Amino acid sequence: MTEAGCPYCSKKTDDICENVCGGASRAALSMSRRLRCALRCFDLKALLLLFVGIPILVFVIYVHGQKFTYFLRPLWESPPKPFRTIPHYYHENASMEHLCKLHGWGVRETPRRVFDAVLFNNELDILQVRWNELSPFVSEFILLESNSTFTALKKPLLFASNRRRFKFVESRLTYGTVGGRFVKGENPFVEESYQRVALDQLIRIAGISDDDLLIMSDVDEIPSGHTINLLRWCDEIPEKLHLQLRNYLYSFEFHLDDDSWRASVHRYRAGKTRYAHFRQSDDLLADSGWHCSFCFRHISEFTFKMRAYSHVDRIRFAYYLNPKRIQDVICRGADLFDMFPEEYTFQKIIAKLGPIPSSYSALNLPGYLIQNADRYRYLLPGNCKRESG
Ligand SMILES: *[C@@H]1O[C@H](CO)[C@@H](O)[C@H](O)[C@H]1NC(C)=O
Ligand SMILES: *[C@@H]1O[C@H](CO)[C@@H](O)[C@H](O)[C@H]1NC(C)=O
Repeated sequence: MTEAGCPYCSKKTDDICENVCGGASRAALSMSRRLRCALRCFDLKALLLLFVGIPILVFVIYVHGQKFTYFLRPLWESPPKPFRTIPHYYHENASMEHLCKLHGWGVRETPRRVFDAVLFNNELDILQVRWNELSPFVSEFILLESNSTFTALKKPLLFASNRRRFKFVESRLTYGTVGGRFVKGENPFVEESYQRVALDQLIRIAGISDDDLLIMSDVDEIPSGHTINLLRWCDEIPEKLHLQLRNYLYSFEFHLDDDSWRASVHRYRAGKTRYAHFRQSDDLLADSGWHCSFCFRHISEFTFKMRAYSHVDRIRFAYYLNPKRIQDVICRGADLFDMFPEEYTFQKIIAKLGPIPSSYSALNLPGYLIQNADRYRYLLPGNCKRESG
């Protein structure tokens, strides 16, 4: 038995080392010789690591670089200042006077007027759910659509061609369109803010005046009707109030968390109030509705939204847009872009790793969805299969 046996050390190094260097006469082998043998095996392992392992690692980082930066987010970004969360009370039988009082507010003689303004992309079904939920409490609906997505792709005026579906708000609708600027290679957030400025003008055209309530939210951020009713009836509510919404993904089966806060309600001030989708105050009213992201009926709407959306850089591979993959991701409650959770602490990132577990509760959902369950089955638990095309 000589050291010449050692060069065979390869992947299964330990076993082979044992066999080659140890073998039958293992007991007889001196400690030093064994050590030398092991070192040689170690060298080979190190070389393998250098010439195979490191290139693989570089490749993996290259392919998943964006994922890595997301995972390491807690190192380079600290969490935003926490909100002052206002407890939210509601019971269908409680009087408005009593409810306002529970929040520390007085009740008004007459309710404020409410304006609901949205930038529309392609969320027809969710718009139907939203406007039905809010209809009893809203004085004027405002909708703006553009022939350009935020990512400068041409898009049809989908609301205009489906306007018949929304007859029930026609007498209260201020509808406007804005032409896209189609600047190639521009940051999508620029087109987005351009469209929000156009929406500000449309809101004025709709006839808003001081102290009317203005809801600023994306179409898929739906305040619950009773929340808006409370805010229009109570005095002394904050000038700017964010709404905490339950986050759902793909349908009301996948309840991600309760951390959506971008939607807000404003007591309008002419010349001051600007339509925005970022943080504008520290006040957050708890449990005020639903945010259903990527809640689409057709697979084609998923691919459209993935390409139209401000985070288009997340489509790192063409196969992300493959309809079979998208259907599979929806049914698993996994991430369309294969990303890590967007959180600020490792604890939260790790807690949210992997698919969202299914929820089988369909309690406390928008009323219209339950009344029309047959038409919106894909939004309810247990129905993840989407229509193709
Ligand atoms: C609601 O109020 C009515 C009349 O005051 C009462 O009969 C009913 O039991 C109440 N319902 C609930 C759920 O408290
Ligand atoms: C978008 O709309 C504007 C204004 O209506 C129009 O001038 C422009 O030609 C449209 N662009 C495309 C690509 O449809």
